[in-house]
Formats: sequence, C-alpha cells, structure tokens
Amino acid sequence: MKTPGAKPVAGASERLNEARISQKVIDSFAGTDDPRLRRIMQRLVHHLHAFVSEVELSEEEWRAGIDFLTATGQACDGKVRQEFILLSDVLGVSMLVDAINHRASEAASESTVLGPFYIPGMPERGYGEDMALTAGEPALVQGKVLDCAGQPLPGAVLDVWQTAANGMYSGQDTDQPSANLRGRYRCDAQGRFAIRTLVPVSYPIPTDGPVGRLLEATARHPWRPAHLHFMIAAPGYHQLVTHLFNEEDPYLDSDAVFGVKDSLRVAYRLRSADDPLAAEFGFQGGFHHACHDFVLEPR
Ligand SMILES: [Fe+2]
Repeated sequence: MKTPGAKPVAGASERLNEARISQKVIDSFAGTDDPRLRRIMQRLVHHLHAFVSEVELSEEEWRAGIDFLTATGQACDGKVRQEFILLSDVLGVSMLVDAINHRASEAASESTVLGPFYIPGMPERGYGEDMALTAGEPALVQGKVLDCAGQPLPGAVLDVWQTAANGMYSGQDTDQPSANLRGRYRCDAQGRFAIRTLVPVSYPIPTDGPVGRLLEATARHPWRPAHLHFMIAAPGYHQLVTHLFNEEDPYLDSDAVFGVKDSLRVAYRLRSADDPLAAEFGFQGGFHHACHDFVLEPR
C-alpha cells in the first residue's frame, strides 16, 4: 500500500537501472575539452562498469577493493617504496604499457619494465669500475651499444642498478650505501662498456604490503628472476629501459611482474683468476663473465 502523500513510483523504464547508470556516467564526460582525456575517462568508465556488472560485485567486495587501494596508497613512502607501481607490475599493466609504447624495430634491443627501484643521479663510473660496495659473487658485464646498422655509439650512457647479494636494492635496505650496485657508465670510443659488479640473485618483490597479500591470496609467488637493470641513452636515439636476466634462473618462466623476454637472457660464465680479463679488470680470484650488445633505435 502506498504511503499517503508519497510521490508515484517511477516506471521500470525510468529507473536508473544498471545499463542507464553506466551510460549516464559516460555522458557526464562529454563536455571535456581535452579529447584524449575525454576518451580515456569514457572508456575507463565503460570497462570499469562492464567489469563490475560481469562479476556482480557485492557491497562487501566493493568495500574490500576500496580498503585494498587505500592500503596500497598508504604503503607508498614517497622514496623507494611505490606500492602502486608494484600493483601495476604484478597485474602485468606495466609490461603492457611498455609494449605499447616501445614498438621498436626487430633490429633494436627489447625493452622491459623500469620497476620501482630506479634512483636517478647515481655516480658516474669509469670503464670497468666496480659498482659493488658489498660482498657477493664477483662479475664482469661487457658489451657494446650499437645502432640498428651495427655501428657503435661512443658516449652512450648506461644507468645500471641491481640488488645486493641479500636480494635488496640500496634505498630499500638502509644498511647499504646509497650508491651500492648503482652507477652511470659511459661507452668508450668503440661503443664498448665494462661493468664490474656482482652476479645478480633472484629476489622476491616486497611482500609486507597489500600487493604481497594479494599474491598470497591468489597462490602466486613473489619472485623475480635474477637481473641487472639498464637505462641506456644516446643523443638522437630512443632511450632503452631493459634488464639482462641470468639464463639459468629458476624463475625465468614465472616472473612475478612478467618482465622476461628471451632476447634478454644472458649467461654468466665462470672464468679463472688466470684469465687475461682478471688482470685487466683487477679480479683477485675467479669471476663470472657476461657479454651482451644493446641496439638503440633512432628517433
Ligand atoms: Fe629489479
């Protein structure tokens, strides 16, 4: 029975039903001046609403999602911990954005994710200088930076970073000097670079925050295969952000952030103290040696 004085109930066609709410929100962005922003917001609403409708999100699940995103923001410290990048990484969005934005020619080196642990402004290091200030398995990484025709790019700069033997980056681990296992190397006149460092180790992405809880709840492991990060720049060429992965790592096929590409696998081969490279680069004992050439694409 109707309450006396109540307004008439709207007919079914007039109710703000599931389909109408979605279209109404999409239409609310129609007046956005910037056409790119308008397209992004309207398509975001389209896909977000389609997702909510498809899974028939409960109110409890909606609340859990809000709490998760809130915790993700709260886990960011404004320095080295960036939980939203981590979330993007484990959902494969970082690799998808990378793939869309770096459709390089077949001749150029493949890119992969930047990751959340890059720190700009690290020390300039000389040819073959050791960037390891902590102990580990000594290594030498050598190669050239080339253009797509195979010509060397003298003066190309390689910004390089990796974890220490404990699987943590400087900045993340307050016991390490900030410049540990980080540095900027410049190619010589033949386009060659030489980096003294440590053999990289597999490491888990941080699991003490909401992203770690997400992986645990979905039976996914947090490990990344051992790798060395590179950001390579030369005037007139597209910057290349990539990794080199140890080819025998057990996590190559299940990287928590989906960053592995076959062309970025490299062998760290054991060399003895008698090897001529030991004397050239000052190794006192045996060391591991990896070689890889990078190819940059012209702008
Ligand atoms: Fe990394």
